[in-house]
Amino acid sequence: MYRKFKLKNPFFYALIVFYFSIFGCSEKNPTEKVPGRTNSKIIRFVQLTDLHFGYDIHDKNTERAIDIINNLAYSIDFVVVTGDIFADNILDPAARKTASMLKKIKFPLHVLPGNHDINGVLNWAEVHNYFKNLFGKYNNYRDIGDWRFIFYNSEPLRTGDMDHAFDIEKLIDNKKNNIIFHHAPCVDDFYRGKIHSVWRHKNTSEMWKRSISKAGVKAVITGHLHRSELHYINHVPVHSAPSIAVYWGRQSAFRIYTIREGKIGFQTIYIQ
Ligand SMILES: [Fe+2]
Repeated sequence: MYRKFKLKNPFFYALIVFYFSIFGCSEKNPTEKVPGRTNSKIIRFVQLTDLHFGYDIHDKNTERAIDIINNLAYSIDFVVVTGDIFADNILDPAARKTASMLKKIKFPLHVLPGNHDINGVLNWAEVHNYFKNLFGKYNNYRDIGDWRFIFYNSEPLRTGDMDHAFDIEKLIDNKKNNIIFHHAPCVDDFYRGKIHSVWRHKNTSEMWKRSISKAGVKAVITGHLHRSELHYINHVPVHSAPSIAVYWGRQSAFRIYTIREGKIGFQTIYIQ
């Protein structure tokens, strides 16, 4: 049983006030330095994936996610959308109008295409122009301190379309800590009791695995699987994040990542 605690000494109250005035009770400033490490900034970013616009529930849940992101109690460095913005309906004007809601995100935004942003409806030149006009370029990077964040369209490589595949190694800086974002992870997918290869060509899979195993690559972050998974390609962790899309009875979710003292962590935010 807890004893009832009475305190009459005013010095104790002064001590409490002094403690909270110095250390605070919560983290208020996202750009603060890690205590004791002058060069170690806390980096935060958000990953949304597999929105599959064109269904009411997906459109509404993306809007809710954007609202949550824009009203977080702290600032974030950027938002990345790792593909499948559309559901094979990129040519539908209504779906395109919905996709423009992503521009409401008040933080720097990077948007990558997935297999459902091109399959059977456009060629790569059109997808490239469409994404560039609406969201800005991909196959580029953002440097923050000694971290490099690479935004890569892996779909040509995954499908063996070497004419449109960009060389990922041109984006990797082996003097930095690199995190590579792309759509479909180069891992085995397990569903309906069977293993399915996500990447279709053995030679491009091997090429990819060699490239991402280069010095300096700290993590690969993807979507496509519509569920939370962690794999490894050699020493490199490959994350797959849960989707906004609710196919197969899934709950819409997105992730907030934090890099602190060189370590990458994440939280999953579910849309109610
Ligand atoms: Fe998807």
